[in-house]
Amino acid sequence: MSERNHPTTAWGRDVIIIAAALVIVGVLLTGVALLLGVLPALAQEAPSTYLPIIVRPAATPTATPIVPPVNDNEYVVLGWNDLGMHCYNRDFQDLAVLPPYNNLWAQVIRRGDPPQIITNTVTVEYAFPDNTYSAGKSNFWQYDQQLFGVDLPLNVGLTGKGMAGEMDAAATHFTAEGIPLTEFTDSNPSQADPFQLAQVVVRLPDGSEVARSTVVAPVSTEMRCDNCHYDGGVEGIRTGRIETNILTLHDKENADEYPAGHQGRLMDRRPVLCAECHASNALGAPGVAGLPNLSRAMHKKHAGKVPNSTAGCYNCHPGPSTKCLRDVMSSQFNMGCTDCHGDMRTVANNPRPWLNEPRCDNCHRDPKYAQNNALFRLSTGHGGVYCEGCHDSTHAIAPSSQGRDAIKFVELQGHGGPIDTCTVCHVTAPAGSSPHDTP
Ligand code: HEC
Ligand code: HEC
Ligand code: HEC
Ligand code: HEC
Ligand code: HEC
Ligand code: HEC
Ligand code: HEC
Repeated sequence: MSERNHPTTAWGRDVIIIAAALVIVGVLLTGVALLLGVLPALAQEAPSTYLPIIVRPAATPTATPIVPPVNDNEYVVLGWNDLGMHCYNRDFQDLAVLPPYNNLWAQVIRRGDPPQIITNTVTVEYAFPDNTYSAGKSNFWQYDQQLFGVDLPLNVGLTGKGMAGEMDAAATHFTAEGIPLTEFTDSNPSQADPFQLAQVVVRLPDGSEVARSTVVAPVSTEMRCDNCHYDGGVEGIRTGRIETNILTLHDKENADEYPAGHQGRLMDRRPVLCAECHASNALGAPGVAGLPNLSRAMHKKHAGKVPNSTAGCYNCHPGPSTKCLRDVMSSQFNMGCTDCHGDMRTVANNPRPWLNEPRCDNCHRDPKYAQNNALFRLSTGHGGVYCEGCHDSTHAIAPSSQGRDAIKFVELQGHGGPIDTCTVCHVTAPAGSSPHDTP
């Protein structure tokens, strides 16, 4: 248990967490290990309680697929996922931490001298060419009413977004929030593929296409609760499924403390949403006053049970196969989760989970890299462009070790990220070698 794959650096010890004030929707996933059934992939219209057997190949650094060369269009679109990974439960029949819920962001720039960020004269669409449906790849739509109190049409997520559609315009960008994406393509629905590809397309009011980007939407159900909560594992509990082992243990430890209005063994009221009692800012769920929030409950209870290293975090965050952490700092500078987040106890003591996270400028102290929002994902830099538009999302900061993350950058500038080529946006390259040298 003392294994430390990623020794904490001086940078890591320096991390100061600063509170933010925005509601996010998010990421993490939960308690579901691989459910090894023996059923074939299910058809779109016939979701079933049983889920297909899946294969989860180990992630290896991949080459970037060949894409068309730099173009000379009048418009460019920068697209990205906000968090670097979104997780959801593999199976919803017993419990849920997070639903299928993915977010895409985009900024459209009209090239010129100077370039202009635009939102009101174009529309932006998203689609997943090889991932057009989710019902049958997930049994979420059988349990949506019991878990979230809404009976959603198949393949529609909690915010009303489907697997393709129009993004919503905000002041300086577009978003599609709550896409119910799964980790299974249509062409190979029995193989988990956590780096799904979206197409983001910009159109003028007459319908003509003026820009397009190929964006990774990362998604995984890889949680290795089964490493410990297997049949006969923790406290010898043996119910036949990982999820029911966990609920049985939870009832044993806490059933007499369940608050008014939430009484009854969890095993008797399945499926259970953990956030019914434990607050989660990922879901905007307030929980029951007096009980620990879900992040605190989980990280505190499991502190000392997993090593304080990336391998330790990968017991619950995806994961030894998925490798959601694929950024330049992990691949080229040997950094790991705890360098930025601290250890299990530090995470457990976060006063505002999801809203209070590490900042780039905790470590990169030159003022030209300063964030203008407490959260990296909401910060903008050069000319009002989002940091994530040029660098990609946290945990995937370019150059990423996952080749698909680079496709969009190669489409724009002929090589991987970050975006360093002035003429992606400016028609005439201004003087200067880095966008950080001009505010
Ligand atoms: C490295 C082993 C390990 C992993 C991985 C693990 N757990 Fe645990 N978990 C434990 C142990 C050991 C306990 C009992 C701790 C105790 O009683 O002190 C426990 C306790 C729990 C409890 C009961 C807490 C209580 O007191 O009510 C829940 C709920 C739980 N785990 C959920 C999960 C979920 C969900 C996952 C996956 C996301 C997970 N665990 C992964 C080892 C693990
Ligand atoms: C009906 C309300 C309720 C639900 C639903 C619920 N819990 Fe709990 N949980 C509790 C109570 C009450 C405690 C005891 C809290 C305490 O001791 O302060 C607790 C304790 C825990 C602990 C141990 C915390 C600690 O510090 O000892 C973990 C871990 C935990 N819950 C995880 C989960 C997970 C995971 C889920 C979803 C599968 C879940 N809970 C669903 C009420 C609930
Ligand atoms: C036993 C399972 C488990 C382990 C091990 C674990 N996590 Fe988590 N983590 C969770 C769950 C479950 C959530 C989602 C909580 C919620 O929905 O609010 C979460 C959420 C988080 C969050 C977002 C919420 C917050 O507190 O800001 C961070 C950051 C995080 N984990 C970091 C880590 C790091 C770093 C490690 C390794 C040192 C780690 N986790 C290990 C289960 C785990
Ligand atoms: C815990 C400290 C820490 C945090 C937080 C952090 N970094 Fe780093 N980063 C480093 C270290 C250390 C290096 C290694 C190179 C160096 O010393 O600059 C590095 C390297 C990089 C590099 C590669 C530079 C090169 O020479 O190739 C980029 C890009 C980068 N970080 C961006 C970011 C962004 C964006 C964020 C916020 C999402 C961030 N970093 C957060 C410590 C940190
Ligand atoms: C280089 C620093 C760095 C490393 C390494 C890192 N994180 Fe993060 N993490 C961040 C930052 C920065 C944020 C906040 C992102 C934002 O504001 O949008 C964050 C946020 C999160 C969140 C909350 C959801 C989100 O994305 O905002 C979770 C969960 C999380 N990290 C888990 C992990 C786990 C697990 C690992 C290791 C596998 C890890 N992180 C490694 C910097 C890091
Ligand atoms: C227009 C594109 C663009 C935007 C927007 C942008 N960056 Fe950068 N960033 C770059 C490029 C290109 C580099 C590499 C050249 C350099 O270091 O200046 C870089 C380098 C960095 C580094 C690397 C530091 C090192 O050690 O080398 C950090 C940290 C960083 N940016 C943070 C941010 C943050 C935080 C934001 C948002 C507040 C942001 N960037 C916005 C393009 C951008
Ligand atoms: C991702 C798009 C993008 C990239 C790449 C980019 N810029 Fe810009 N730049 C902008 C935007 C947007 C503005 C804001 C224009 C305005 O003020 O309305 C801007 C403004 C500027 C300005 C001030 C206004 C002007 O045009 O004189 C300078 C100087 C500048 N950029 C230099 C650079 C340099 C040098 C590079 C390459 C190292 C670069 N930019 C790369 C988008 C970009």
